[in-house]
Amino acid sequence: MRHKVTVVGAGNVGATAAQRLHQLGYADVVLVDVVEDLPQGKSLDMAESGPVIGSDGTITGANSYAETANSDVVVITAGIARKPGMSRDDLLLTNMKITGAVTEEIVKYSPNCILMPVTNPLDAMVHNILKVSGFPRNRVLGMAGVLDTARFRTFIARELDVSVEDVQAYVLGGHGDDMVPLVRYTTIGGIPISELLDADTIESLVQRTRDGGAEIVGLLKTGSAFYAPSASIVQMVESILLDKKRILPACVSLEGEYGVNGLCVGVPVKIGANGVEQVMEIKLLPEEQSALDSSIASVKELVDVMENNS
Ligand code: NAI
Ligand code: 2OP
Repeated sequence: MRHKVTVVGAGNVGATAAQRLHQLGYADVVLVDVVEDLPQGKSLDMAESGPVIGSDGTITGANSYAETANSDVVVITAGIARKPGMSRDDLLLTNMKITGAVTEEIVKYSPNCILMPVTNPLDAMVHNILKVSGFPRNRVLGMAGVLDTARFRTFIARELDVSVEDVQAYVLGGHGDDMVPLVRYTTIGGIPISELLDADTIESLVQRTRDGGAEIVGLLKTGSAFYAPSASIVQMVESILLDKKRILPACVSLEGEYGVNGLCVGVPVKIGANGVEQVMEIKLLPEEQSALDSSIASVKELVDVMENNS
């Protein structure tokens, strides 16, 4: 029997993630949206690609949640996205209400699923979804670090004219302007980046990574990135469904790790069949810890706003 994955939100990120999952063929996919006929239309179109791409997985669309029952993984992309001039944080209260309502429905039908929030502002939404679901922390992991790291790896690979596959890096902290690309742990074919690039060049790649989401919004003008985000979602879903135990950055609730208690931020974790199977603690230098602390403080500000409005 195939696994079952629900994707809530049939917009750019959700539909593209559903398409990628359908193409892999090892999960049946349910795509949910509030807009009538939208998920049904997109799913039918994707299902009709099955004979061409060789996928026997089913993909169906729905405007309600009964169809999502007994999902193994539920990806939540429902909400509003950034337009030019908006920060991720401008989305806070609207998306808090949307993700809260979605989570209540999901847990009714799939009480044992693993939840993967994607909606922005990501870290605050993970906090909200964890709280509303009542799930243990290993079953709620947000996607953002894989995307931010992929951007950093892309920029480094282009700068050095090397394969993206040979660039290893981590971006920690909140999915915001003060995210923390961890330069000291960045290697190219095992060689520390500091041996291949000068400090100014590295700093410019770090800054471009921090601005990566805004760069795409500025170019697209009517929405935000979705190809790299959907690929990142699928890498995490695959690590769960295939119990791969990949070490990837994900947004999880910390319980003392990195000096943080009860806030959700991006850190490297082991992802397997049980969701978050281990939070990996990296020893940070004082300046790295202080950059992470600033990023965590920004996440806390958003959580405080949500708590004052709930
Ligand atoms: P989009 O506007 O294309 O799609 C959002 C979809 O959510 C729409 O189809 C809308 O009808 C649906 N929706 C709204 N309320 C709903 C509800 N109550 N129930 C079900 N569906 C509902 O937006 P896009 O580009 O797909 O982005 C989705 C979210 O993901 C945004 O908040 C965006 O900022 C975030 N995002 C996060 C990333 C990350 O790294 N964590 C990366 C890219 C986007
Ligand atoms: C991004 O980083 C909008 O958060 C989204 O592209």
